[in-house]
Amino acid sequence: MNAKQPLNQQGQEAYSGSIKNFSKERYISSDWSTREWQAVWAKSWIAAVPVSDLNKPGDYVVFDLGPESVLLTCNKQSNVQAFYNVCQHRGVRLVNDHTGNTENFRCPYHSWRYGTDGSLLYAPHQEGFQEGLPTQTLCLPTVHCDSALGFYWINLDANAEPLHAFLKDMIPIMGHYEFNNMTLVQDQTVSINCNWKTVLDNFSELYHVHYLHPQHRRFVDCTESLSECYEGGHTRVWVPGAKTDSLFSTPDKPTDLLTLQLEAFGLDPAQYEGKVDEIQAAIRIAKRALEETEPYYGNFTDEELTDVMQTNVFPNAILTYQPEMLWLMRLRPHATDPNRCYLDKLSFERFPSNTAQPVHESTDNFKEKGAEHSGKHRRPERESFDYSDVIRGEATMTETIDQDLSLLAHAQKGMHSAGFEGCWLNEIECRVSHFHEQLDTLMNHSTD
Ligand code: FES
Ligand SMILES: [Fe+2]
Repeated sequence: MNAKQPLNQQGQEAYSGSIKNFSKERYISSDWSTREWQAVWAKSWIAAVPVSDLNKPGDYVVFDLGPESVLLTCNKQSNVQAFYNVCQHRGVRLVNDHTGNTENFRCPYHSWRYGTDGSLLYAPHQEGFQEGLPTQTLCLPTVHCDSALGFYWINLDANAEPLHAFLKDMIPIMGHYEFNNMTLVQDQTVSINCNWKTVLDNFSELYHVHYLHPQHRRFVDCTESLSECYEGGHTRVWVPGAKTDSLFSTPDKPTDLLTLQLEAFGLDPAQYEGKVDEIQAAIRIAKRALEETEPYYGNFTDEELTDVMQTNVFPNAILTYQPEMLWLMRLRPHATDPNRCYLDKLSFERFPSNTAQPVHESTDNFKEKGAEHSGKHRRPERESFDYSDVIRGEATMTETIDQDLSLLAHAQKGMHSAGFEGCWLNEIECRVSHFHEQLDTLMNHSTD
């Protein structure tokens, strides 16, 4: 390595830098996580379901969040609604499948039936309800639900601010990627033995990339990344793509991962021997040339055509995207244990309007996902596994995320050590700091 700083940090719009050191309590304390549920999870907008999962009457999806379960439905009028997923008779969880299509929901216990609009349609032995027919008084309690950026979002707070106010700075930076026109190609959930914020912190900094993900230097320039912090705890990082990392000398030949990108756009890698610095511009020109058949490419600046973007929407959504693809990585806390969490990864690709094939094979290690498309696209089943399956090589979320998961498995144990008091952040970790500042704001507000 040369004397150059490993990573640039600029463009910190709403960053105060006031929180660099904080105690480990927030990662390991049950009392903290109970208060956090009320202050954060019960009040925030959470990306729950891709819009494509709820597009015809009767479609439903169950979204579990901590101790709660939310049922999202498309009703007979094709309106999407969200409800607490709990039978109003004796509290049994009403729907246990992940997704499906139905005319109504029948509780498995005493057969109460609910419509897709949440109304109670039928309860057996109605004559036995001495205080009146429950079908006239009971229904599934509603949860706020609205759509933006390709997802239905839910908010458990009855007094929630409108979704579009919450996302006010996020829609201008991501709306033109048209995530609603991308297709879900993989749906994975991994359970991890660490606090959800440990994972979120990991995906909020590139400090570790040179050391944990050496393959990145072969296709992106993390050294020249640009971090931004937005009001509300949201953050973004731009990582220049279609080039090698500028901390290291430029190779003579295109790397394996740059070769794949060149080939994806019909460019001959042999032409770029000794001219690796010209690859980024060549790929931008190749994408611009696609505008004729895919006008969508006209939505983007030159940088957006090749850079890998990652936007973290507070508290738990991590969106990694390029014009051709999106990953939604989403943290969910365990219902009761601050030492456990779930990481969902929903992978999307942009298909041309009239084929079942992606615009092109995704770049870098996104290719590992191995999404196969033949003929008509079907929604992928959700795959659920444990981080130990990843470490054993029996499941994968891509090489990069597998490397993160292997490391995170150790993080929580260390947090519990008497020899560790709390975090000590570098300026490079400004996005971590910005997230925790917003977390503290909400936690302090809720105890006022
Ligand atoms: S608990 Fe649902 S019908 Fe009794
Ligand atoms: Fe990582």
